[in-house]
Amino acid sequence: MADGFAIEGIDITRSFGGFFALKGISIAVPPGEIRGLIGPNGAGKSTLIDVLSGRADRWTGTVRMFGDDIGALPAHQRRRAGLARSFQRTNVFADLTVVDQLEIAARAAETPNVEEIMAELSLTALAGKRAADISYGDQRRLDLALALIGRPRILLLDEPAAGLSIGESLELAHNLKDLVARWKVTVLLVEHDMEVVFSICDRITVLHLGELLAEGTPDEIRGIPEVVTAYLGSSV
Ligand SMILES: Nc1ncnc2c1ncn2[C@@H]1O[C@H](COP(=O)(O)OP(=O)(O)O)[C@@H](O)[C@H]1O
Ligand SMILES: [Mg+2]
Repeated sequence: MADGFAIEGIDITRSFGGFFALKGISIAVPPGEIRGLIGPNGAGKSTLIDVLSGRADRWTGTVRMFGDDIGALPAHQRRRAGLARSFQRTNVFADLTVVDQLEIAARAAETPNVEEIMAELSLTALAGKRAADISYGDQRRLDLALALIGRPRILLLDEPAAGLSIGESLELAHNLKDLVARWKVTVLLVEHDMEVVFSICDRITVLHLGELLAEGTPDEIRGIPEVVTAYLGSSV
């Protein structure tokens, strides 16, 4: 662990045609931290998660995991090395049961902890149900469960609570915070609900139009007037 960071992106750019979605972003998250990644629609949050997780082409820069340059590794090798992610839209298969989806994901894992994950995310009672027949909130828990198979060291979460009520979002967030603290997982969390971000994140990075606008503790971010006005509204 040469530089002390769990996950690091250095001078990352990504363009689509002539349009730069990321314009030389650097981000470094130390082990055990929950880092929030915020910014308005189109800021580049999902694109950054894609680059870090190995799901982007046409990008430049350096990606390091615990000091190792992983920029050339395909997504499945990063996953095996302990870098997991979830997607902004639910990624569950409607026709498969909860337990079958987790068992399939666990085939690639050294530690196939399906029972443990179901218990941690309150999915045990739903194990035999098809994903199509469980609630949307439970589908989002299943998304998170799929990312947590094998106890990853780093978790990149792209709006895991999208579409949930604020109460459900906070419940999921605190479930996540408790679990990652016990398992010592480093988290990069994209989340649009500021109540969620400010209640569970250790530090927050703010993106705007592919550039880094600010980075700091929740209190520091709350204290930056242009961030509050442009991105947070008056509620925090
Ligand atoms: N596959 C793509 N082709 C072209 N433009 C894209 C593609 N994916 C993202 N973009 C553009 O890149 C910018 C950043 O998108 P994204 O990373 O999804 O933002 P965020 O997740 O912060 O809302 C947006 O302007 C978006 O339209
Ligand atoms: Mg996005």
